[in-house]
Amino acid sequence: MDFTLRIWRQKDRNSQGGFKEYKVKGISDGSSFLEMLDILNDELSAKGEDPVHFDNDCREGICGTCSLFINGRPHGPEEEITVCQLHMRSFKDGDTITIEPWRASAFPVIKDLMVDRSSFDRIIQAGGYVSVNTGGIPDANAIPIPKEAADLAMDAAACIGCGACVAACKNASAMLFVSAKVSQMAVLPQGKVEASRRVKAMVGQMEDEGFGACTNTGACEAECPKGISLANIARMNREYLSAAFCSND
Ligand code: SF4
Ligand code: FES
Repeated sequence: MDFTLRIWRQKDRNSQGGFKEYKVKGISDGSSFLEMLDILNDELSAKGEDPVHFDNDCREGICGTCSLFINGRPHGPEEEITVCQLHMRSFKDGDTITIEPWRASAFPVIKDLMVDRSSFDRIIQAGGYVSVNTGGIPDANAIPIPKEAADLAMDAAACIGCGACVAACKNASAMLFVSAKVSQMAVLPQGKVEASRRVKAMVGQMEDEGFGACTNTGACEAECPKGISLANIARMNREYLSAAFCSND
């Protein structure tokens, strides 16, 4: 398969960026999107040109680092997959493909397609953990947890922190990510002890980082590669209101 790639090139966060066009030829339809970019980069390196910088690590849909906006959609045209799980058979031979970095002021461009998502790390550092030393591994079922709560916690914990929800949102809101990270602990008894302090600190940090407000358009849920539900945002809002009015934390 042959493709024309329109790729955003930007030297660093202070430089003006712009699209540059590249041709790739003879790409297997079984190649992943990142393997296709690897082939382009090998060709650029062989010609002595600067390869295209993009983030990736696990290439298994787990780490959340492969953050590309492809033809106007975070992670490209397929549902509930990351860029590393996207294959070139999802495109037509001869297609022109536009590739951009996540666009949000809280995710400044580092170079080309790589953005700085350390704002997510700082939100987690603000309270997305259990702070007590929990000691050794307790016996299974020592703390009874209803199956429904365990399922909700696991569904929320599936968030890989990729930032597609921010990239999809017209306000660059981080509510889906933060609500998943609040919810994964809010529904479990172990998370309830510090629940008020946690939700206030994480929401406060989210606002300090400059993410926009949620207007319930649902673009985040539609583009999330892990199917994180908007119901988590409703839960986080309830947790936040309860913490604001009923807690001295
Ligand atoms: S909620 Fe979904 S889109 Fe947002 S960071 Fe988590 S996995 Fe990525
Ligand atoms: S490289 Fe890890 S999720 Fe894509």
